[in-house]
Amino acid sequence: MLSGIQPTAGSFHLGNYLGALRQWVALQDTHEAFYCVVDLHAITVEQDPKVLRQNTRVSAAQLLALGIDPDRATLFVQSHVPEHTQLAWVMQCLTGFGEASRMTQFKDKSARQEAQVGVGLFTYPILQAADILLYQAHHVPVGEDQRQHLELTRDLAQRFNTRYGKTFRLPEPHIVKDTAKIYDLQDPTSKMSKSVPAGVVELLEDPKKSAKKIRSAVTDTGREIVYDPAAKAGVSNLLVIYSALTGRSVESLVADYEGKGYGDLKKDLGEVFTEFVTPVRAKVAEYLADTAELDKVLARGAERARAVASKTLARAYDRIGF
Ligand code: ADP
Ligand code: NA
Repeated sequence: MLSGIQPTAGSFHLGNYLGALRQWVALQDTHEAFYCVVDLHAITVEQDPKVLRQNTRVSAAQLLALGIDPDRATLFVQSHVPEHTQLAWVMQCLTGFGEASRMTQFKDKSARQEAQVGVGLFTYPILQAADILLYQAHHVPVGEDQRQHLELTRDLAQRFNTRYGKTFRLPEPHIVKDTAKIYDLQDPTSKMSKSVPAGVVELLEDPKKSAKKIRSAVTDTGREIVYDPAAKAGVSNLLVIYSALTGRSVESLVADYEGKGYGDLKKDLGEVFTEFVTPVRAKVAEYLADTAELDKVLARGAERARAVASKTLARAYDRIGF
């Protein structure tokens, strides 16, 4: 199992946690898991070096604080394992220009980006393919938005295998059934995302600020607390978050809040979130207070990752004729 997350935002948000990172924590017990902070992907858009270095550490600290155990999973920083870029070059040479041009995420991102669009943004899915193939991952946890990239990864693995002999395993998408899709608190019809900051709950912001954001979440003009994503997107989103953070079913929450108002739900959810995030924040602060130790954890992770990645790359290089 391999998965990665970009360090660009510094703080992860509730959507990242409930939609992805919570599953990472669970999957480390059932799979041989490789988790990387993908700083190489981050520089597809301009980054301030100091901020990038800090955000990479902050990201790793959050993963550890959320429950990634470096003894049960291999946690590393992508740029620490040079095999990623080495295999990416090989895979670029196997990718058709037209094939890469069809990636819808590139079309979206390049259209949204005001600054000049770099070639790295274009070839990003090929680096992602290398990330996955180096570890011979059986499974990659993916959301809908990553499906096309995983298809490309499979096509490239297949193409390499056909041309040079069987070398890479074709990864399967791992769809996590109970993954929550979290919506923006201010616009509950669109996904909570760091690119639209108003309705985002960040794990590292002051929990008082989060509670306030939750209290002012957009809801409908009705009064009844029921789960109805079509008619009551805001309330339903709050119920999903509440349920995910407490492990209680949405039905039992609805039953509990019968006769109560939206204000009660929002106030309580603010408290639930604060209770969840307070120890996480304390652990993040602890990891960041000792960056030497944190860097050591990441160096050990990179060493373990390299042991696997270098074997795969050596085999691929040999097949190619290097
Ligand atoms: P963002 O949308 O804020 O840019 P990313 O694209 O970096 O976040 O997402 C990192 C991970 O978090 C991905 O696995 C993605 O599927 C998950 N994720 C992001 N936002 C949400 C959300 N609102 N609900 C559920 N999962 C999400
Ligand atoms: Na494991």
